[in-house]
Amino acid sequence: MKKGLFITFEGADGSGKTTQISLLNEYLIGKKVKTFLTREPGSPGLGTRIREILLHYEGELSSTAESFLFLADRAQHVDRIIKPAIEEGKIVLCDRHTDSTLAYQGYGRQLDIERIKYLNDIATGGLKPDLTIVFDVDVETFMARVGRNKDRMESAGIEFYNRVRAGYLEIAKNEPERVRVIDASGNVESIHKKVVELVKLL
Ligand code: TYD
Repeated sequence: MKKGLFITFEGADGSGKTTQISLLNEYLIGKKVKTFLTREPGSPGLGTRIREILLHYEGELSSTAESFLFLADRAQHVDRIIKPAIEEGKIVLCDRHTDSTLAYQGYGRQLDIERIKYLNDIATGGLKPDLTIVFDVDVETFMARVGRNKDRMESAGIEFYNRVRAGYLEIAKNEPERVRVIDASGNVESIHKKVVELVKLL
């Protein structure tokens, strides 16, 4: 069975990771590599509906229910889309994945970290990214980039985002082989170069 690679991009909202994932995708396509670009929440199909609830539902949503919605999207995404693409030999680039649930619901919403890890494991069937890049940006910069038009998640406030950022750094500290942190305060081109260097190491 041919095997591709699985690379995830993580970081607080407004860290520039979505720009960077597109740049890496273009770079790899330019090198004639087969890629598949995707994101969470909002995998094609069911995930699109789940994303709508997660970002725009106006009623009350408990942190546990919120976690299960992210996890449901992930379970479907991994099983139906990510695993088949890896098996076809593609490099799958995913904008957010398991570490988002750990950072946002675990550290941010302060749910039990070990339980979130366990639930992530069920959702992915044990699939782990070959590389995860965390784009680190200070919370003030993030707040300025996100601006006034905040979605449901972005409205959580500064304390929440401080915990999310610290959570990501903790995740990277615990898994230094898989998770690499890039300072996202630099310019787009220099950050792109750092991303390419990390991918070349795979
Ligand atoms: P999105 O618009 O995709 O944000 P971004 O462009 O910052 O990636 O919104 C996803 C939001 O959902 C974002 O605030 C992070 C949050 N999120 C979680 O809280 N837990 C998760 O497991 C995932 C995948 C995302």
